[in-house]
Amino acid sequence: MDKSRKLLDKLFARGREFLGVEYPILGGAMSWISEAQLVSTISNEGGFGVLAGGNMPIDLFKDEITRTLDKTDKPFGINLISIAPNFRKQLDHVLDIEFPFIIFAGGLPPRDAITRVKQTSSKMLCFAPTVGIAKRLIKLGVDALIIEGHEAGGHIGPVSTAVLAEQILPHAKEVPVFVAGGVGSGLLMIHYLMMGASGVQLGTRFAVAEESIAHPNFKQAFIKAASKDAMPTAQFDPRVPVIPVRSITNEGVKDFTTLQLGLIAQMERGTMTPREAGEKLEEFWIGGLRKAVIDGDIEHGSLMAGQSVGLVTEVISVKEVISDLIEQGIQEADRILGLVDIHD
Ligand SMILES: Cc1cc2nc3c(=O)[nH]c(=O)nc-3n(C[C@H](O)[C@H](O)[C@H](O)COP(=O)(O)O)c2cc1C
Repeated sequence: MDKSRKLLDKLFARGREFLGVEYPILGGAMSWISEAQLVSTISNEGGFGVLAGGNMPIDLFKDEITRTLDKTDKPFGINLISIAPNFRKQLDHVLDIEFPFIIFAGGLPPRDAITRVKQTSSKMLCFAPTVGIAKRLIKLGVDALIIEGHEAGGHIGPVSTAVLAEQILPHAKEVPVFVAGGVGSGLLMIHYLMMGASGVQLGTRFAVAEESIAHPNFKQAFIKAASKDAMPTAQFDPRVPVIPVRSITNEGVKDFTTLQLGLIAQMERGTMTPREAGEKLEEFWIGGLRKAVIDGDIEHGSLMAGQSVGLVTEVISVKEVISDLIEQGIQEADRILGLVDIHD
């Protein structure tokens, strides 16, 4: 076991140093869920919490940062969605206070946002849903990548985490790379680390943690769901691109389909532009997530969840989620080292 622990320790080294935490395990930002309590708990337990800027009005956003700073003196990140209405105000604020870690979501961040972050001491992490975007982001000078695959919960890219890992991990040596999407246990975590990842990011498992403020109905829906229940939304008209959202199928998903078809009909009549239709679709999911997470309406709200929801069997604390990941990682390392008979 000693060798396995040492191996995991070595594999964690780069991510640990970059993030300044004991375990380079990120609690991925989840709108409405990743607030002060969950974020600070993840960081206090040695992981790296990420506050979700989401659609938060600026005053609430500032308060949430202050509340989190009151609950932890450990590092955490702030996630900004570049297509969210309050993105600019949120960005101005995090740059004003030179917040140490900024994570851009929602597609390639605007050029000027990258330039402005680079003029500060803040580190910038960006999502790479394809190998092409990963290369561009490295050229643009981001400090780290989060490669997020199709298995993840919430807005998803087109490529599976496994294939992204194969394409990117062996080559992207310039910056630390964290892997997100489908990581539900330490088993997969250690394999991505061995492939060259500096750490992993989990959302779905942390959404159900004891300290998550998500409504009990939301957590129970996750516990009941199988991996196959977490499906991406469909797109019906290329003029209104839908960034697919992976969520547990419910009445809300059907409502989204109806809305989409209705907007397409309005476009046909000339009473709506594709841009307006796209914005309406984005709004639907933002409001829909709140309905499920806060109000507990698991039929009509959005139950964003990754395929790893099939690995969620009970509500456990953040501390247990993290220690399970570590122990499972060590056990898997032990099994591998045993195969080549160098096990002590
Ligand atoms: C309910 C929910 C909400 C999410 N909201 C956001 C968000 O606001 N910003 C973001 O960058 N990612 C968001 N994500 C993605 C997570 O941060 C994380 O990358 C993803 O959940 C990892 O995959 P996993 O679900 O398989 O663990 C969300 C995921 C879930 C499940």
